[in-house]
Amino acid sequence: NKAGALAGKTLLITAGPTHEPIDPVRFIGNRSSGRMGYAIATAAAQQGATVTLISGPTALSTPHGVERINVSTALEMHDAVMQHIKGKAIFIAAAAVADYRIATPAAQKIKKSTAQTSLTLIPNPDIVAEAAALPNRPYIVGFAAETEAVIDNARAKRERKGLDMIAANQVGPGLGFDTEDNCLHILSEHAERTLGPAPKPSLANELLLLIADAVNEQH
Ligand code: C5P
Repeated sequence: NKAGALAGKTLLITAGPTHEPIDPVRFIGNRSSGRMGYAIATAAAQQGATVTLISGPTALSTPHGVERINVSTALEMHDAVMQHIKGKAIFIAAAAVADYRIATPAAQKIKKSTAQTSLTLIPNPDIVAEAAALPNRPYIVGFAAETEAVIDNARAKRERKGLDMIAANQVGPGLGFDTEDNCLHILSEHAERTLGPAPKPSLANELLLLIADAVNEQH
């Protein structure tokens, strides 16, 4: 679609959860389905963008016309983003990246015992914050899944991570993660908007139109 709002633009998108291995058969994960990120990738391609999707483990099929790179862990997602971000016009971080990984995953399956046990967790890199600190970086959009004080937490998160725009949504039972519909509060330096509640594909379209406007104003 050469006439779309994102015609000629290159987009990098992360989506889905990450899986952090405990041993060869177990991992720590989260409830992200990847649907919001995939809806954004689909809509961006329809609006004329060249889309690279870096995806954690999901059950979704690759959107038409999108280049998909599969990763599993936060470290793999980090490396894939740093490899592909150069020259992109827009980076949208929709993945639910694990904040921590297991310090030393076991090489063999951990045996059951009756004793109490624990895992040592170490922090993962903050991919979107690191991207925002790069020179000549793209226009960067992050997500904020919050369970309380959604707007205030999102505003602080946008500033702390150095993002151009943040899309905040409330998560909890029936909301946000692993659901069809969503509601997004969009915050940027100069604008605040609420989109939805609506199906994720329609929110993705509206979000991308706001991003296209912001990117076109920059130049
Ligand atoms: O800090 P929090 O995880 O709530 O931030 C969410 C935003 O940051 C999302 O855009 C998510 O994709 C991104 N993120 C990231 N790398 C991390 C953690 C979060 O890119 N390690």
